[in-house]
Amino acid sequence: MRYGHFDDEHGEYVITRPDTPLPWINYLGTDAYFGIVSNTAGGYSWYQDARLRRITRYRYNNVPADAGGRYIYLRDNGSGEYWSPSWQPTRCDLDEYECRHGLSYTKIASARLGIRAQTLYFVPLGETLEVWRLRVRNERSRPADLSVFSSAEFCLWDAQDDGTNFQRNYSTGEVEVADGVIYHKTEYRERRNHFAYFACSEPLAGFDTQRDAFLGPYRGWDRPLAVERGESAQSIAHGWAPHGSHHVRLPLGPGQTREVIFLLGYWENPQDRKFDPPGSGIINKALAGPVIDRWLRSATVADGFARLQESWAAIRSVMQVSTPDNDTNRMVNIWNPYQCMVTFNMSRSVSMFESGISRGVGFRDSCQDLLGFVHMAPGLARTRILDLAATQLASGGAYHQYQPLTKRGNDTIGSGFNDDPLWLITGVAAYLKETGDTTILDELVPYADSGTSPVQLYEHLERSFRYTMDRLGPHGLPLIGRADWNDCLNLNCFSSTPGESFQTTANVTGGQAESVFIAGLFVLAAKELAGIADLRGRTDDGCRYRAEADKMAAAVTEHGWDGRWFRRAYDYYGQAVGSAENPEGQIFIEPQGMCVMSGIGLTNGMAAKALASVGERLATSHGIMLLQPAYTRYYLELGEISSYPPGYKENGSIFCHVNPWVMIAETMIGDGDAAFGYYMRINPSAREEISDVHRCEPYVYAQMIAGKDAPSHGEAKNSWLTGTAAWNFVAITQWILGIRPELDGLRIDPVLPSAWPGFTASRRFRGATYEITVRDPAHVSGRGARLLVDGRQIQGTLLPLAGAGETVQVEVILGPEHSGPGH
Ligand code: GLC
Ligand code: GLC
Repeated sequence: MRYGHFDDEHGEYVITRPDTPLPWINYLGTDAYFGIVSNTAGGYSWYQDARLRRITRYRYNNVPADAGGRYIYLRDNGSGEYWSPSWQPTRCDLDEYECRHGLSYTKIASARLGIRAQTLYFVPLGETLEVWRLRVRNERSRPADLSVFSSAEFCLWDAQDDGTNFQRNYSTGEVEVADGVIYHKTEYRERRNHFAYFACSEPLAGFDTQRDAFLGPYRGWDRPLAVERGESAQSIAHGWAPHGSHHVRLPLGPGQTREVIFLLGYWENPQDRKFDPPGSGIINKALAGPVIDRWLRSATVADGFARLQESWAAIRSVMQVSTPDNDTNRMVNIWNPYQCMVTFNMSRSVSMFESGISRGVGFRDSCQDLLGFVHMAPGLARTRILDLAATQLASGGAYHQYQPLTKRGNDTIGSGFNDDPLWLITGVAAYLKETGDTTILDELVPYADSGTSPVQLYEHLERSFRYTMDRLGPHGLPLIGRADWNDCLNLNCFSSTPGESFQTTANVTGGQAESVFIAGLFVLAAKELAGIADLRGRTDDGCRYRAEADKMAAAVTEHGWDGRWFRRAYDYYGQAVGSAENPEGQIFIEPQGMCVMSGIGLTNGMAAKALASVGERLATSHGIMLLQPAYTRYYLELGEISSYPPGYKENGSIFCHVNPWVMIAETMIGDGDAAFGYYMRINPSAREEISDVHRCEPYVYAQMIAGKDAPSHGEAKNSWLTGTAAWNFVAITQWILGIRPELDGLRIDPVLPSAWPGFTASRRFRGATYEITVRDPAHVSGRGARLLVDGRQIQGTLLPLAGAGETVQVEVILGPEHSGPGH
């Protein structure tokens, strides 16, 4: 069952009924001012940091989950009836309803009682404000006497404190109202130099700034007193809950349309120009004023929206494909890159599953997000890499997370996740492959914990490598520390106290738990680092890295192989994890994907065997499960993984982040059908038809889909912010379609599903545009391709670098036995 449909031409998902199984959300903002918005206008906004600079309020674990938002109420003053054109919060029946989620904007349109309304929500490029552009049309044959009420509830900035510290916060709230603009200025009198504003393009019939005056006692957003009575209270908030609401009278003749623009914005004044007059406590509006005036104009808004769309069109044009499969096309061309941009911007902080107050920017998460993002905005990727490297420790280890506002490592979670530093190498490698910009390696970056002078980024990579080398266990495999990629495999934790955090509780020392997964990642990273060393002319380093990679691969072959698949780990006591020896958790997905991706087992048959075991034991029609059999009880020595009921999260769900590793691995053994088959099982667009089962948005990947041990097998959770976005983009574009940036240039090496006759693609790479046509006339699918560049056959599959601005025609014919190029 579906709740809407894709509009590929406009790059939108169109939701056609408001009661989706869960709020289906979108993100606003591209740069510093961000928000989430649901298909019924729920959601909230923040500036840069969802925890420390929250602009509007969200109530955690609310019902419905997206309650509170960017609400507009329409009131028919003739009858006194009122409703929400976004359905929520009044949930009055609508004659028509449609929500269009597009790239960084959302339009919600509806009709009721002959009144049509459409609201466009977006954040203009480079601005710290959001626009709500409301258009109301009277489709009745007689005049309509309407009122419009807006509503936004302010958050007192620090979202954590706002949600907990009521004894203080009920007394601190302050606002100003001047020239129809509502200013939220809590704590501006003292140390803050920022405020929020809520402005309206039309003359006001009234306003409210105290939430409870607007709502009335014992009322929720569905029945605000001001709306019911058709009149605002002109309330000024002193403490309690600062809120913004405008009341606009909107008489409309038959057929008449009018536009009302609301702006919700954030502004920082220079410390010495906070007040006007100086020392008065009154906000100096001289700097924000012109911005507000400009964006309240219809033409500015129309132009700003056009520029946002152009910017997305430009970003999307970096890579466009046309394959025989429409679910692939729309994900690769529209939604997957968009989700990659969102995950890059948000890391794991804000969604319907992340509160914005617990996690900042994840180290390993961001390094992986880069893989799917770097081609779209290499400059931002560069900055992120340097920020991440600055949270690395002198030991080579890394803070697991940092706060985006302060860019400082988060002490609560600390470090000790032993895979973290290796991802920095893979992230930097992805940046270099895309851009060829080796100057990044010379950038001087400090370590977070030492007073010593900054060192070159290259040195950070060397320390990342050494961090693993310095921490090897009895089998020569890397020690796992708190956890590796799998946050929940906590082999040194031994927690028996309810509620204790598996990630931050002091580890038990003396054990020697090792990770086969980190070993695979190490091999991959060491090879990447060797390539980087070669680029720098450090061939000795390169040889050393390769030698260590080989040694580690040998250790995996010797101690990490279980007979039919790669083991997962050795626990504190040296017992195998992810082995046929174990009663539960016999096989894990991560080492199968990662070891094969790193090249282990490709020549001795282990890779093919491991992948066959994945197919037999872990694959379901909804995707590949993380492990089997799922743990049915709590294992003290395994940690959080066994705390989840079977089939959920790390305990045997289809953890979508790691599915693409298997897809990539399948292409490495030349099985395009297997790779693409797995791709389609979790492709959200391909799951649209089962939206009632899947339940999350059909336009973005979710972190997990319940595994076969769960009663709700097939149900997705944790949509949007997941490494799944980047890795699926890499799997489909770089490995299945085979358009793969490497340090030396762009390689074209597809491994297609055998039914495909081919595909075409356009890819901008280091300034040139490659127009690629791939044909598989003999349906050979597997590896081996002949390339013609502007009609001339080249050796191998690596394209010669074209000059900036050039357009190059590339013809690719798959299959070694084919008669020849051009036929
Ligand atoms: C979450 C985390 C990620 C981790 C994964 C597996 O997605 O954000 O860092 O690797 O879970 O535990
Ligand atoms: C990862 C896991 C999640 C876990 C969290 C913190 O995000 O996906 O299951 O709760 O790490 O432990």
